[in-house]
Amino acid sequence: MLEKNIKKITEGVYPFHMPGHKRQPEWLCGLADTDITEITGADDLHAPTGIIKEAQSSAAKLFGTVATIFLSGGSTAGVLSGISAVCGFGDNIVIARNCHKSVYNACKINHLRNHYVYPTLKHRIGAYGEIMPAEVDTAMKKSGAKAVVITSPTYEGVVSDIKTIARVVHKNGGILIVDSAHGAHLGFSDYFPKSARTLGADIVIESAHKTLPCLTGAALLHICSHRISYADIQEQLGIFETSSPSYPILCSIDRALTKIQQTDLFTPYVKRLEEFYNKAKGLKNLYLFESADFDRGKLVISTENADISGFELKKILLEDYKIELEMAMPNYALAMTSVADTDEGFLRLISALTDIDSDLSPAKKTVLFAPPVLEKVFEPFEGENEIFLPAQNSLGKISAEYILAYPPGSPIIAPGERINAVALEYLSHLYSGGAQILSSRGSYPQSVAVFEEKD
Ligand SMILES: Cc1ncc(COP(=O)(O)O)c(C=O)c1O
Repeated sequence: MLEKNIKKITEGVYPFHMPGHKRQPEWLCGLADTDITEITGADDLHAPTGIIKEAQSSAAKLFGTVATIFLSGGSTAGVLSGISAVCGFGDNIVIARNCHKSVYNACKINHLRNHYVYPTLKHRIGAYGEIMPAEVDTAMKKSGAKAVVITSPTYEGVVSDIKTIARVVHKNGGILIVDSAHGAHLGFSDYFPKSARTLGADIVIESAHKTLPCLTGAALLHICSHRISYADIQEQLGIFETSSPSYPILCSIDRALTKIQQTDLFTPYVKRLEEFYNKAKGLKNLYLFESADFDRGKLVISTENADISGFELKKILLEDYKIELEMAMPNYALAMTSVADTDEGFLRLISALTDIDSDLSPAKKTVLFAPPVLEKVFEPFEGENEIFLPAQNSLGKISAEYILAYPPGSPIIAPGERINAVALEYLSHLYSGGAQILSSRGSYPQSVAVFEEKD
């Protein structure tokens, strides 16, 4: 039944979204045959000494890391394990405010005291930009944090200056964990920004399934320095990863990495991207967002200058052109690409955009930028006496839950933060635009879980 329904949804639709295998048989065929368990000779991901160790060692060599560990539970498992391995219960930590919810969850379960650094803003599209090293320095000095977690590249492909940030973090005696969920493809071509793996980060976590041709759930945890204990990481993976990791997922990682070593997949991919960017210069109202240090594998189609929203553009592409994008926001729609994309796919997208663009008119829009800045009253693990209030009555109250748009999955409101009007307006704007809004207590949009405050 589910299979039939998925077929109905995907038939004839071109996927400009994850997973990076783009449903191409080359990356999928035969993997069902690898669905075994820890039988004789099959090794064990949780204590690898045989064939899994061999595959991971070969990956570490390819990536130039101290150790590379395959994950079948996505970057989520890597983030939870990496942070829990580095920080002790109740430690101070500096995290970028645009981190994925898995980072917040790792902080919450370890009762870490969060000190936020806010990224710069890419005002034109209304998205977060990079983290400034000076902000990290100040936050570390103020907090005495044990670790720093930042996201680079972001969902939109913006990378931070990891080299300088790593220097700052280490000078302050901390550990740098980089959530590179969107960066597994970096380091294989100079066309893309350098990977955090080679820029001084201590732990780098990547969702192989997002930007490499791997099965959903495939991810990598790279130990990139000798400041990190392999045993501590393994211990935490023993908690956060299933005791029955999926062999097809592990094999899909190995297949992609082996193919990358044997065949030049990136030259044709880069050529396709460049052709696409060049053709997109002919658009009159839509444009492709770019910035100085940016992953051009992310096609951020800006609707800033057009009389259409990112949400509407995504909807038209699907309904009229059978092209599914990854995400939409008020001022842009985002297409994810990978080495598995085809000439035909890129051609379909540029033809559709050209067609849509010709019917649009210029519009000067005010960018409704958010996520907003909220006052943090206490830590996400603190707070008592939760009650549910209608969303409009939650203004001024302290949130008891995470509320976020998925994608991209970073909290717009975090527990312990005082809900303000900008946040409520932003959420309702995203919701009415068609974004999927998730709240950790399952309440939004009907209500919001807040903490009762004593007078
Ligand atoms: C920045 C970031 N980190 C972590 C994750 C979690 O990755 P996964 O879905 O592989 O668990 C995501 C997922 O979208 C993400 O965007």
